[in-house]
Amino acid sequence: MTDSISLSERGLTLEVGAVSQYFNYYWLRDACISCIDPQTRERIFDSSALANPPRATAAWIEDGGLRISWAEEAVISCVPMALLHDMAKQGRPHDPADLPRNLWLCDFESRIARIPQSAVLDSDDGRARFCRALIEDGIAVVTGMEPGKESLTALVESLGSITPSAEGYFFEVRVEIAPTNLAFTAGPLEMHTDLPGEEAAPGLQFLHCLENTVEGGMSLFLDGAAVAEALRAQDPEAFRLLATYDIPFFYRHDTLDYRAHQRVIETDQQGNVTGVTISQHLQDTLDLPQDMLDDYYPAFIKFIRLMQEDRFLVRFRSQAGNCVVFDNHRIVHGREGYVADSGKRHLRGCYCDRGALRSTYRVLAKQGFDGMALPARETA
Ligand SMILES: [Fe+2]
Repeated sequence: MTDSISLSERGLTLEVGAVSQYFNYYWLRDACISCIDPQTRERIFDSSALANPPRATAAWIEDGGLRISWAEEAVISCVPMALLHDMAKQGRPHDPADLPRNLWLCDFESRIARIPQSAVLDSDDGRARFCRALIEDGIAVVTGMEPGKESLTALVESLGSITPSAEGYFFEVRVEIAPTNLAFTAGPLEMHTDLPGEEAAPGLQFLHCLENTVEGGMSLFLDGAAVAEALRAQDPEAFRLLATYDIPFFYRHDTLDYRAHQRVIETDQQGNVTGVTISQHLQDTLDLPQDMLDDYYPAFIKFIRLMQEDRFLVRFRSQAGNCVVFDNHRIVHGREGYVADSGKRHLRGCYCDRGALRSTYRVLAKQGFDGMALPARETA
């Protein structure tokens, strides 16, 4: 036992870095490295199997770990000091994918990461750069896509599995005779996030431009997190309402009737904005208490109007051979109308879970590929 560790009834206190930090005994027993099976990597210790709450009889630091002997178990636990440092510093274990979001405005177009498909598919540095851009900026453009339908599948599967939606595994954005969605017309498409009527609205969206020779049809993007932060600065109460209460969305046709509630502004445990959900064409009849709507509607409309300010909007032309990839919970997208008979416009789309993106980045980062070795934009 060292002087810097003091044992108490339900936990111990030790010096971690420059701070004195308390750790609960249950938590310490669960954090012992022996609780994770080295083969399956799964937890094999069940704290509910202990007859009595764990109580330390001694604790000391040895070889980079906190060692603990227990009153009713013939084991010496080892908890890595690195984990204790992370807990004392930030209250959670280190996560390589926990990168700060880079909020952006209308001048971001020239800085959107542009990475060749070959680099994403064939190089760990390229794939890490792609992942990092999606986590930090919420958007990236993959250039030089191989032609053909399988090209998109290969790109998505470099991160994880394709996630199906109500539209199936893929959707084709082009003019249809009997459209089931405004996207499948030549009309303008208001700024939105996709399919909030689904219980788990799509995570990452991929839009592979197969051809685009029409007049008009510029693609529109904005960073919903930046708009939400602007609302927080301008009207904290409006922000609170949109970040607290869920509202209903739908996706309805002859054979479909999806309904789900979503929060317009999403925040994480630290209160940071993680994204937004917005889709006025798929918004259902609000079911908040009527007197709450006296405040909710003005807050919602303030947010929509803020989102329409030019200072947030990036517009560029989707080019054949490129695939725009973006976080559907953060990046709000739309399209200007186009002249349907002026040429052809065909985008092939699909979705992938955001968890798969972070998983891929963590694995790469642990191997030393943090996404900083390549420039964010191709130099060719
Ligand atoms: Fe969309």
